[in-house]
Amino acid sequence: MLGVCYYPEHWPEERWSTDASMMADLGIRFVRIGEFAWSRLEPARDRFDWTWLDHALDTLNMAGLQVILGTPTATPPKWLIDQRPDILAWDQNGQPRRFGSRRHYCFTSPAWREETARICLIMAKRYGDHPAIVGWQLDNEYGCHDTVLSFAPHCRSAFQSWLERRYGTIDRLNKSWGTVFWAQDYQDFAQIGLPHQTVTEAHPAHRMDFWRFSSDQVISYNRMQAEIIRQHSPERFISHNAMGLFHDFDHRALAADLDVITWDSYPLGFTDQRMGLDEATRARLATSGHPDIAAWHHDLYRGTSEGGRFWVMEQQPGPVNWADHNPIPAPGMVRLWTLEALAHGAEVVSYFRWRQAPFGQEQMHAGLLRPDGVPAPVVDEIKRLQHDLRKLDLGAKTSAPANVAIIADDASHWIYGIQPQGMNFDLKALNFAFYSACRRLGLNVDVLRPGADLTGYALVIVPSLPLLPKALIDALAGYKGKVVVGPRSGSKTREMQTPPELAPGSLQTWLPLKVIQVGSLPPSVDRSVVWRNKRYRLAIWYEHIESDLEPEGHFDDGSGAVFHTGHWHYLAFWPDETFLLDYLESIFEELDIETMRLADSLRLRRLGDLNFAFNSGPEALKTPAPDGANFLLGGDEIEPRDVAIWRN
Ligand code: GAL
Repeated sequence: MLGVCYYPEHWPEERWSTDASMMADLGIRFVRIGEFAWSRLEPARDRFDWTWLDHALDTLNMAGLQVILGTPTATPPKWLIDQRPDILAWDQNGQPRRFGSRRHYCFTSPAWREETARICLIMAKRYGDHPAIVGWQLDNEYGCHDTVLSFAPHCRSAFQSWLERRYGTIDRLNKSWGTVFWAQDYQDFAQIGLPHQTVTEAHPAHRMDFWRFSSDQVISYNRMQAEIIRQHSPERFISHNAMGLFHDFDHRALAADLDVITWDSYPLGFTDQRMGLDEATRARLATSGHPDIAAWHHDLYRGTSEGGRFWVMEQQPGPVNWADHNPIPAPGMVRLWTLEALAHGAEVVSYFRWRQAPFGQEQMHAGLLRPDGVPAPVVDEIKRLQHDLRKLDLGAKTSAPANVAIIADDASHWIYGIQPQGMNFDLKALNFAFYSACRRLGLNVDVLRPGADLTGYALVIVPSLPLLPKALIDALAGYKGKVVVGPRSGSKTREMQTPPELAPGSLQTWLPLKVIQVGSLPPSVDRSVVWRNKRYRLAIWYEHIESDLEPEGHFDDGSGAVFHTGHWHYLAFWPDETFLLDYLESIFEELDIETMRLADSLRLRRLGDLNFAFNSGPEALKTPAPDGANFLLGGDEIEPRDVAIWRN
């Protein structure tokens, strides 16, 4: 169940067999290679050097390792960019991006599509049935370094055609967008530019369609690669490695063209830099990461994949190089993260990277081996982990559906990016707050994409979906359990307009209330929500509601904040952590679902007949297992950064 990312082209050939046998000895079975190797595979147009890759594949194969081969398109080489500069993406300022790092291409560029098809076809034909290869990774981290949107001239004409296909006539576009505002009416699709470099913000409908267009470019680009590989490499799986806290394209659509979606887990980097946590919390979690950050993504990508299949393709094995601060993970955390991923249903956890590079942009990024080729201290953790895994037989276990589902998509992030209406309104944090509260209460959670089947869930949470896809409304119509809806849900139409019936839009079929005004708050404003005689801090967002329902909770001014009718619940504000714990706990109680309040650093997960408890904190904790539990790992106390597993 373990893998590693390896760059044979970084090391002398004489070393490869040593690396391969060290990997095998460590119990590693999968090796991903090749995703940044174009300049060594084709040093000049049509001059290929396959010898080294042939040799690397054979060396790994002989050690019994199975290879995931990357298509090398994340790094188009210098000679190619010089020959066809229109491959380059253009930034917001209308400047071509430059060669010298990676991901400098534009998804839309016709030249790039041609070159991608060429290299994929050549590689698929050459290696499609190589016995070492069990799967492919297409490209690497689409969108990393802010590369989904591109403002090149060819994007403009492609966007115009996309709009013409979508709207048919320019009058329809004008009407749908609402271009009468600020005299933005168009007479022809050919007049429409890309939404950048405008004096102040560009029209929201224009921006939203540009997001949709850009996401479509990623999807069709990926599909093109998938079709070529699939045709010439039958019986190998096709994957792509998605990122954490990243929503710049529609991942559900991407996953539909893959056999397995994978994601790259860097808990410390995410906790330090990307979660918007306050200074004190970041300090507390500096060497362990937030206890829910990896879990959230496991559940998210499990729900994104067609058949629930996912891998962790890159697991942080030590300090990374790219966050504001890059501490060394506390001893035990790499083992904990690995077991946690497997407990959430990952098929494989693969470490990034095998050996720390002494050169290049990522020379400060740890690997399993030190730059001098000697095992880093983390290798002892992996040996211990191998020992654990032999006892567990996790491969045979599957995730049973959870009691609670959270619905999330990518497009909502584009909408709030375009109209945040308050700089702290970050949907990633809101989704995460609901998730984290359920996990603190000891529950398994499924994260679903809108339109997924809701049958069997006792509770469905919609933290905030401004645009309610019809598939979701249809699924909710037949759903019998409880629903908690968060603020701003149903507040936009497809055209980025306010719905005529106001928010929460079509949810008013079940929730007889209307959002008549919304407000956002700067962090220093001190206001509250009172629910069941307890006062909670109100921050970030609140709404004024018109309704005949008697509110269950109120703002300081007495107006309604918490609403409930039948099995529908509405929160007219951004709920804080304490409120969510109390509120969701009461809902689970009504549903007869047993919860427990776990310590900050303790989390549970059930997989098949196994119960896992993860303690990512610095102190030993009592294991929340029943008396006489049959422990496979650990016991009544869980040591710091350790895991207990019992069966029932
Ligand atoms: C990922 C990427 C890898 C490497 C790694 C460093 O985003 O896929 O190539 O850059 O981060 O943490």
